[in-house]
Amino acid sequence: MTILILNGPNLNMLGIREPEVYGNQTYTELEQTLNDYAKQINITVDIKQSNYEGVLIDLLHYAHTHFDAVILNPGALTHYSYSIYDAINSIAVPVVEVHLSDPSTRESFRHLSVIETACLKTFKGKGFQSYIEALKYLKEEGLKQ
Ligand code: DQA
Repeated sequence: MTILILNGPNLNMLGIREPEVYGNQTYTELEQTLNDYAKQINITVDIKQSNYEGVLIDLLHYAHTHFDAVILNPGALTHYSYSIYDAINSIAVPVVEVHLSDPSTRESFRHLSVIETACLKTFKGKGFQSYIEALKYLKEEGLKQ
């Protein structure tokens, strides 16, 4: 099983950006944590980040033929990108939405996820653990449907 973990705008700034919201751990530490956990449960992950909506869309299209599933944190694009929503609906592989924070408890513009209904499931509010839970879910449940 090969899973694409795709991170959107500003997630490269983890550890620097708003540590009171996102914690002190860096993006490199997120990559290390996910690579270690994936190895432990015997799945292959490819972890990518882009600050550009079009690059994220191209990678989602690429996932259609090259991956079994996608774990997606689109950053603020979550709240307004119908192009990301359409890209998720354009591909046959399951996409799981993740967030480090819980956007529903933050500013009102974060309460809506326009991608949620296109995704298989959402994990949020648990920091790095949101991604771990998404990986565990895809390994145990997600691909059986
Ligand atoms: C985020 C939540 C979004 O509202 C925000 O714009 C982000 C990160 C999260 O992981 O908690 O960039 O997706």
